[in-house]
Amino acid sequence: MNTQYSEKVLDHFMHPRNLGILEYADVKATEGSPACGDQVSLYLKVNPKTMIIEDISFQSYGCASNIATASIITEMAKGKTLDEAEKITWKESANALGGLPAVKMHCSVLAVDTLKSAIKKYKIDIITR
Ligand code: FES
Repeated sequence: MNTQYSEKVLDHFMHPRNLGILEYADVKATEGSPACGDQVSLYLKVNPKTMIIEDISFQSYGCASNIATASIITEMAKGKTLDEAEKITWKESANALGGLPAVKMHCSVLAVDTLKSAIKKYKIDIITR
């Protein structure tokens, strides 16, 4: 296939990991991209004792790059503590996909911002409750 996307982007776009609603999630966060208006939702299930993300899923209303980034972010965040997952950057997610076209970098920013938002929500809503 002749495309500017890496094999890994295409794989995650065609076969998204951890896609859909996580029924027993502790938190859900939804963010929109100011650049394009697309949206992503992320669901987290966190172990309250260890603060490890035990399960995570996403729904994307965005483009192929966003679906691929959200997908790989769920793989990168699963098994990490909230503090570790919070440090994942959009550059790391784009690198993990073998790179993204420059005009599509904002799609990975959207996915990472949504992860950060979900983690913040968990910390504010659940831990400080
Ligand atoms: Fe909107 Fe990619 S163009 S998320």
